[in-house]
Amino acid sequence: MEKYYLTTAIDYVNGAPHIGHAYEKILTDIIAKHYSQRCDDVFFLTGTDEHGIKIQKTAAAQGKTPKELCDENSQKFKEAWKALDIDYTKFIRTTDDYHEKAVQHIFKKLYEQGDIYKHSYEGLYCSGCECFLNPKDLTEDGLCPDHLKKPEVVSEENYFFKLTKYKDAIIKHIKEHPDFILPEFRANEVLHQLEEIQDISVSRAKSNVQWGIDVLGDEDQSIYVWIDALSNYITAIGYNTENASDDFKKYWPVDVHVIGKDILKFHSIYWPAFLMALDLPLPKHIFAHGWITIDETKMSKSLGNVVSPTSVLENFNMEHPDAFRYYMASSAPCGRDGNYSDEDFKEKVNAHLANSMGNLLNRTLSMLVKYFDGEVKAEFKAENPLGKKALGTVQIVKNHFDNFEIAEAAQEIISLVDATNKYVQDNAPWTLAKEEKMVECGQVLTNVLDIMCIIASLIYPYCPNIAKDMARQLSFDLSTKLDDLTADNIKVGKLIEKEDIKPVFLRLDSELADKSAKK
Ligand code: MSP
Repeated sequence: MEKYYLTTAIDYVNGAPHIGHAYEKILTDIIAKHYSQRCDDVFFLTGTDEHGIKIQKTAAAQGKTPKELCDENSQKFKEAWKALDIDYTKFIRTTDDYHEKAVQHIFKKLYEQGDIYKHSYEGLYCSGCECFLNPKDLTEDGLCPDHLKKPEVVSEENYFFKLTKYKDAIIKHIKEHPDFILPEFRANEVLHQLEEIQDISVSRAKSNVQWGIDVLGDEDQSIYVWIDALSNYITAIGYNTENASDDFKKYWPVDVHVIGKDILKFHSIYWPAFLMALDLPLPKHIFAHGWITIDETKMSKSLGNVVSPTSVLENFNMEHPDAFRYYMASSAPCGRDGNYSDEDFKEKVNAHLANSMGNLLNRTLSMLVKYFDGEVKAEFKAENPLGKKALGTVQIVKNHFDNFEIAEAAQEIISLVDATNKYVQDNAPWTLAKEEKMVECGQVLTNVLDIMCIIASLIYPYCPNIAKDMARQLSFDLSTKLDDLTADNIKVGKLIEKEDIKPVFLRLDSELADKSAKK
């Protein structure tokens, strides 16, 4: 694998980031960190989507200019991602100058080659979706089914994109590439939507939408937000219609666009059509994740149940975001909806990260100090009965990641932790020590520590801070690539002093956790 390029959806900046936005960025960051353990060149793109009627209206309601609103909220997204240890390579804002210019040229090219034409149109526009809706998709009361708002009747002369010209090619591509849309069950929905597609409006009258990129040579029209937004995936790596940058040549086609299920149509129908019109290769995968509810209820401003990711970190006095990252990433099977609740969060991370994984390391290192003064002797190195399972887990985890089964991969890692705990129980090194079978006792402890190195490596994408703490206590090099892992990781010699043993994760409700957070 030479490079891995992955992207998130870019978020609308009409509000601050919530836990749903965070879910997607955490998933993508975990995928990025996993592939960085398999390849040296990972490019992770995220950003904010800043034009359109929704932003224009929100800014007006708050007595701000759209630019002021965008600057303020875009910054909040950046701060939230920092708090969550989201290590993106690049953050694009659709108000960035280079992006706006590139979008204008993309539009011009499509117009000049006849893929875009002018047409008078009347339709129902939902500003929540930023798109025209088909009357047959509305609720009985004539509302947008997603936003439960009445769409606006818009009668304008707009530019249209010849989506219908690409219909057959897109159907063919989806059918010939079963891993183009993941999880696979979503592909049928898309094929169904494709049956009914029509050409789409790709501009709005400036009289109605001022906050958008101007159509070159037609100052009465602004470019439709979805052309603007989708193009970020290529403009960010230096695409322009004249000549492609080195980065563009290196990274395109993208390996995966990570998006929510609600915007799959835009990514698997509109975007491939635009790319075909630009004569560019299509994305390798589009992975649509499910939605996060709060206490089993859809998040909404009117219900007042919108949860910000940073408030969770603050409420639980967390030193780092690992537990939250782990919980969010394992909250739903691939592509299905998940839920966040404070109680479940606490219970799950205490059980998995503190009781199972953290304690295992802590107990084992403590025994090594108690019985052997922290030293691993040469005779402790023996055939490791857990080795095969642990290396098998590495392969299974890789396969899950190749299918974007992030929660399933986490489950595998915890199964390895459980199997290692069982091995300790079954072999009772404390009894071996009592019986003065010291070599056997040392072998059991060393076998466990060897496997803990593999666990540290596998958990790293989810819990980077915990993994670093584990690796430090194991003197293990966390930059080891997954394919270079072996069952023999612990070096013979002094491993650790008593005072260097630290719990890697304190139970969320423990007094210790409380004290350490207050420090
Ligand atoms: N701006 C567009 C995307 C353009 S991509 C070229 C948009 N923005 S959004 O802010 O509404 O959503 C951004 C991402 O967050 C989407 O992938 C969306 O599915 C995701 N989520 C928004 N709310 C969510 C949940 N409650 N749960 C999980 N993800 C959700 O759409």
